[in-house]
Amino acid sequence: MTYKVLLATADPALHPEIRDLFAESGEFTVAQTVSTAAALVAEVADREPELVLLHEDLGPAPALAIVRDLLDRRPTLAVVLISRDGGAGMLSAAMEAGARGVVTLPVSYADVQTRLTSAAAWSQRVRARLADAEDPDNAVALGRIVAVAGAKGGCGTTTVAAQVALAAARSGGRRGVCLVDLDLQAGDVATFFGVTAHHDLADLVDVADELTGRSITGVLFRHSSGVQILPAPEEGERAELVTASVARRVLGVLRTMFDAVVVDCGSVVSEANLGAVEIADRVLVVSTPDVLSLRGAHRLTRMWDRLQVRKPADCDVLLNRAHRRNVVQPGLARRVVESPLAATTIPARFRRLEEAANTGATDIVDDKRLATAYARIAADAGLLRERPRRRRWRGGDDTGAVQSLQFALTVPALLLVVLLALQALLVGAGALVAQRQAAYAAHGVERGRSLADMSDAVAADLPAGMGDARLTDHGDRIEVRVSVPTVLPGISKRITLTSSAGVAPGTR
Ligand SMILES: Nc1ncnc2c1ncn2[C@@H]1O[C@H](COP(=O)(O)OP(=O)(O)OP(=O)(O)O)[C@@H](O)[C@H]1O
Ligand SMILES: [Mg+2]
Repeated sequence: MTYKVLLATADPALHPEIRDLFAESGEFTVAQTVSTAAALVAEVADREPELVLLHEDLGPAPALAIVRDLLDRRPTLAVVLISRDGGAGMLSAAMEAGARGVVTLPVSYADVQTRLTSAAAWSQRVRARLADAEDPDNAVALGRIVAVAGAKGGCGTTTVAAQVALAAARSGGRRGVCLVDLDLQAGDVATFFGVTAHHDLADLVDVADELTGRSITGVLFRHSSGVQILPAPEEGERAELVTASVARRVLGVLRTMFDAVVVDCGSVVSEANLGAVEIADRVLVVSTPDVLSLRGAHRLTRMWDRLQVRKPADCDVLLNRAHRRNVVQPGLARRVVESPLAATTIPARFRRLEEAANTGATDIVDDKRLATAYARIAADAGLLRERPRRRRWRGGDDTGAVQSLQFALTVPALLLVVLLALQALLVGAGALVAQRQAAYAAHGVERGRSLADMSDAVAADLPAGMGDARLTDHGDRIEVRVSVPTVLPGISKRITLTSSAGVAPGTR
C-alpha cells in the first residue's frame, strides 16, 4: 500500500529531485504537483491525498495561513512544511497551525523514510478510525454533513432541510441530529420550529479559533423533536461575520458531536454556505419542477464548479412539489440540469405544509407520502440507521410492489388470451355449421322441398347457442346465415357467419 502525496511548491526546479526521493522510497506516489494555494485546495479535494508536502514559498498567502485553511477543510490531512528554517520556533509555529512536521532543504531520503512516512501513516489511521461508523464503541466516528441549497428563493429549501433532519432524528442515532441555519440573511429555521432562540451562529465568530463542543452546545437550541438547532444570526448585518472558515470550523466540530448535521444553505450564495457545500458529504439542490427553477439549479452548480467548491456531478437536484400533472417531469428535468436527479421526488402538499409552517409545528406534518419521501431522502443521504420500508401497494421501485404490479398486469392479459382463443373456436365452429347447413338446405331444395321447410329443418338441427339461422334463396344457390355469441368483454354484438351452397341447375 502506498500513500498519495501532493507536492506544493512554486519552484519547479525542486520537483524532479523530490519526486525521485518518493519513487526511491516505494512508499509514496506523487499524485500531483501544484504551484498555487488555489490549485492545492482544488487538487486536495479531487485526489484526497494522505500527505501534502508544502514549500513555505508557495504563496500568495503566508505558508502557515495556507496550512490552517487547508486543515479547516480537511482536518485529517497530514501537512509537512518545507522550510529554510528548521529551528524550534518555526517548528512550534508550524505545529500550532496544525502541520505534522517541518523538513529543511535539501529534503533527504531519511526525511521521507521517517517524518513523511509517519505523517502519512497518521492520516491514514485517523481516516480509518473516523470512517468506522459501524463500530458502536467508536466515539470518534464523524457524523455526516448534508447541505441543502435552493435553486431559487421559496422553492422549499428550509422545509426539506427541516424534514430531513426530523426524519434522521426519528431514526434514533446515538448522538442525534443538528440543523444549522446558514441562510444567513434570511434564516427562518427557528420560526419553522416555532422557537425563539437566544443565541445564534454569530455568537461563535469570536471563539471560532478555539471552538470546542462546549462553546457550540451553549448556542444550540434543543427542540422537543430531538433536533438541535443552530440558528442564523438574528440581525442580518452580523451575517457577514460568518466567513467560510468560521462555517467550516463550526461544521467540523458539529460532525464530531452529532451523527447527522443538516445545513440549510438558502438560495443566496455566501462565503459561509460555500464553505458548507465544500465539506459536505452530500449536497442537495432543491428545485421546483419548472424550467426557471431548474435553470437556477444548473447555474448554482456551475458556479460552485467555477469556484472550485464542488463538481456538479457530486450534487443531487431534488424535485420538490412534484405532481403527475406538472409539465416538467423528471425525464425533462434531467435534460436541464447537469447534476444527477435525486431518486426520490417530494410530492406537492400545499395545505399540509402551509399549516405546519404557519404554526411552527414542522415536526407534526402527518402526511404519509411526504413522510416517506423525506425519510427516503434522509436514507439516501446516509442519515438513517435503516432504510425506510416501502409499502407494497404504493408502487415506486420496490420489488414487492413491482411484482404485484406485474401480477396485476399478467392476470387480465392471460384472461384475454384465453377469451380470444375461445372466440376463435366459436367462429370456426359457426363457419363450419353455416357451411354444412347451406349444403343441407341446397340439397333439400334440389329435392323439391320449400325454403320455409328447409328453414325449419335447419333451425331444428342447429347446435345450442348458435341463434337463428336465416336462409336466402338466390336461385342458383342457398345462403345460410348463423350467428355465434361474443365472449370478449365489452362487445355485446353477435358475430354473423355466412355460407352458401349451389343448387344444381334443372333440379327445380
Ligand atoms: N412539497 C411541498 N408541497 C407544497 N408546498 C411546499 C412543499 N415544500 C415546501 N412548500 C411550501 O413552500 C413555501 C416555501 O417553503 P420554504 O420556506 O421551505 O422555502 P425556502 O426555499 O426555504 O424559502 P426561502 O427562499 O424564503 O428561504 C412554504 O409555504 C412551504 O410550506
Ligand atoms: Mg428558507
